[in-house]
Amino acid sequence: MTIDGAAFLITGGASGLGAAAATHLVDHGASVVLADVNTEDGEAHAKALGQQAIFVETDVTEAAQVQQAIDLGSTTFGGLNGALSCAGVVLARRTLSKHGAHDLESFSRVVQINLMGTFNVARLMAPLLAENEPNDESERGVLVNVASIAAFDGQIGQAAYAASKGGIVSMTLPLARDLAQNGIRVMAVAPGIFDTPMMASLPDDARESLGQQVPFPSRLGHPAEFAQLASAIITNPMLNGEVIRLDGAIRMGPR
Ligand SMILES: NC(=O)c1ccc[n+]([C@@H]2O[C@H](COP(=O)([O-])OP(=O)(O)OC[C@H]3O[C@@H](n4cnc5c(N)ncnc54)[C@H](O)[C@@H]3O)[C@@H](O)[C@H]2O)c1
Repeated sequence: MTIDGAAFLITGGASGLGAAAATHLVDHGASVVLADVNTEDGEAHAKALGQQAIFVETDVTEAAQVQQAIDLGSTTFGGLNGALSCAGVVLARRTLSKHGAHDLESFSRVVQINLMGTFNVARLMAPLLAENEPNDESERGVLVNVASIAAFDGQIGQAAYAASKGGIVSMTLPLARDLAQNGIRVMAVAPGIFDTPMMASLPDDARESLGQQVPFPSRLGHPAEFAQLASAIITNPMLNGEVIRLDGAIRMGPR
């Protein structure tokens, strides 16, 4: 799919990986809908991107809000060609700690936002994309979901986060198979450790130490490198039903 002239919904587009993808896509001629709960950063980023971007306050767990973002984007830009599901939250909590057993509420919240939110976007985008005129490759749309290497190398305290990201990994192939007849591709990216506001909560020395654990290049990933991969996925019609690790060869240990 050609990026120039296309339009994409980007959940989590107010910050980090989603914001970087939005910048990259707009720089290459696309329009973007930034769908995020973070109104302040979302509106500021949309304003900075100019006329090719709008912000729509959206909680990915709410069907009506996701539908509204899709509808507004489609009306504003004359249709949508795909979605990048970058919205996500992280949680560090042991199954059993000195405070007792892991509470079910926070486990459920992480799965709701990361996994159910991603599926919510995929299922609601599908009918719109299926109506698109197919391009020369018979392609009507593309969905790029964001998992994590925690789906494979979940660390201590990551039961909820790893479960939510494992679900995104596992549904990649069935989503791609479901939507193949509609000419819609589905891919997932499993980032390693990226320098985003999500990581900024860690102290500098912890971030530096994490970066040094990456075999090569020994640093945190730049959000623009995620955007570069998302863009390669959008433009390469043969990429479908697969999860790509983007991690500088890091394999996380237990802690
Ligand atoms: N940064 C990393 O090292 C890393 C590594 C692996 C995976 N990831 C994943 O990449 C994605 C982006 O993370 P990031 O590092 O850019 O973090 P980030 O915190 O900078 O961005 C996440 C965005 O998601 C939004 N969001 C949270 N809950 C939402 C909801 N219910 N509805 C809509 N938007 C919501 C937040 O407001 C925020 O703008 C996440 O799914 C994260 O799990 C990040």
